[in-house]
Amino acid sequence: MAIVCQSIRPNLLLVNELLLTDEERDRAGARLVALLDSYERGLPEAEILPAPDRDALSSLLATPMPEHGVGVDGLFDAWESTILPNSTTVAHPRFLAYVLGPPNGIAPYAEAMAAAMNQNCNFWQLSPAASVVERSVLEWLASVVGFPSGARGILTGGGSLATLQALATALHDRVPDFHATGLQRDAAPLVVYTSVEAHRSVDKAAAVLGIGLDNVRHIATDPLHRMDVHALRAAVEEDRAAGLRPWYVVGTCGTVSTGSVDPLDEIADLCAAEDLWLHVDGAYGALFLLSEEMRGLMGGCARADSITLDPHKLLHAPLEAGCLLVRDGAKLRDAFAFDSSYLTVAEDPLMTDYMDYGLQLSRNFKAFKVWSALQAFGVSAFRDANARTLALARRLGDGIEATPGLTLLAPVTLTAVCFAVDGASDDEHRALLERLIAENVALLGPVVVAGRRGIRACVTNHRTSEADIGLVLHRLRQAVSRRPRRAAVAGEGPGGGTAATPEHNPV
Ligand SMILES: Cc1ncc(COP(=O)(O)O)c(C=O)c1O
Repeated sequence: MAIVCQSIRPNLLLVNELLLTDEERDRAGARLVALLDSYERGLPEAEILPAPDRDALSSLLATPMPEHGVGVDGLFDAWESTILPNSTTVAHPRFLAYVLGPPNGIAPYAEAMAAAMNQNCNFWQLSPAASVVERSVLEWLASVVGFPSGARGILTGGGSLATLQALATALHDRVPDFHATGLQRDAAPLVVYTSVEAHRSVDKAAAVLGIGLDNVRHIATDPLHRMDVHALRAAVEEDRAAGLRPWYVVGTCGTVSTGSVDPLDEIADLCAAEDLWLHVDGAYGALFLLSEEMRGLMGGCARADSITLDPHKLLHAPLEAGCLLVRDGAKLRDAFAFDSSYLTVAEDPLMTDYMDYGLQLSRNFKAFKVWSALQAFGVSAFRDANARTLALARRLGDGIEATPGLTLLAPVTLTAVCFAVDGASDDEHRALLERLIAENVALLGPVVVAGRRGIRACVTNHRTSEADIGLVLHRLRQAVSRRPRRAAVAGEGPGGGTAATPEHNPV
């Protein structure tokens, strides 16, 4: 029988100070259910980017941790009074900044259950169901990409970590004795190629793994912001001629600024001919492959040696859920499996020890929230949500193109819509962004496309509707209609022009 002791929480008998009593559990459940319900219902009217209450947040720092707990109601009160009002409403239907997929409806419940089970997804005895669930999610993701059955992968904390672990896998594959000697050997530098539009996580991975940014080539892009394969070929030839070692190319399926998709098939041809490892950064775009019609644009993902995906973007999993898939799964395991004889591991063909497929030993059950949402809603719901965001982005792009005084800065390939107000300076673009958020119209973000500054909307939000896009367009049109005509002519060139001064051109 459990030892019963008196809690400092009044009038309640506890078996353990760190557990809730039956009454407290009822109370916590009721308050959580009520809070989740009011949060969801309140989203359309919520402030997208509430101004932080600095006093309230400072008091979080100034107030010592309580020696005696505030209890369930005290905690929920603090959530409601201090945490929620000072949190960005990323699930608001007009949160249209960055590439962030607001969470799906089952996510909070799956997260709560995952915390209760607290499986350690390092080796399978600590997480048998989780091991198989992660495997089923990874096998499904591999089938979406078009990878062969020998592919293996791992869920990660995000796209950046997936890209880092891909580079480590390729280093281990291509550099003899890499685990033993690392890059500390007398050999010509290895060279990584990516485009000027690539995400900074590629540079970060190359820098921290010792490749050195001097050995990362940022290849120019074509007018559609896609990697120029002729320039890539020329760079590889030039480096070989100089005695360097070209070995790794990162193509992007959905660049972070404009959503452009590199010509992956042509890049794959070049990589095959030159014996280069092809990694695809598909953190933003590759999961649009859920729709067959995207295969023409991005089917080349299937030819990569490895690929980064981000279920916390287009699968609307709550943060964090990234993914690395490697075509030849043995290479991933070779790179990360270290002898851990102190861990009790018995081989089982059904199970996977994920500590052997990535950097982490202790790992949470990320696959649970991804799997649960796929089970609850079905794949078609995600396919439909993605198709809807693509259509809404096109509608926004068409509306901008049809509006005198607004210029699209790039074709709308996926869901990123980049535009500028003709003649507006950087400050005016910034002021427009601030105005849109102050009026709670929408959170959009800044962008620079081919040197020209502007504004970017990214419709990766499954809650966004036609009406939301209509409101954003309406407000943008109002803003440009107030501008004097000469300003619209002045700003055609790159950089947006500076003829329009803030005092007589409010946007
Ligand atoms: C193209 C691309 N790659 C990588 C990343 C980084 O992903 P994460 O934020 O999951 O690390 C992003 C994030 O937006 C991205 O758009």
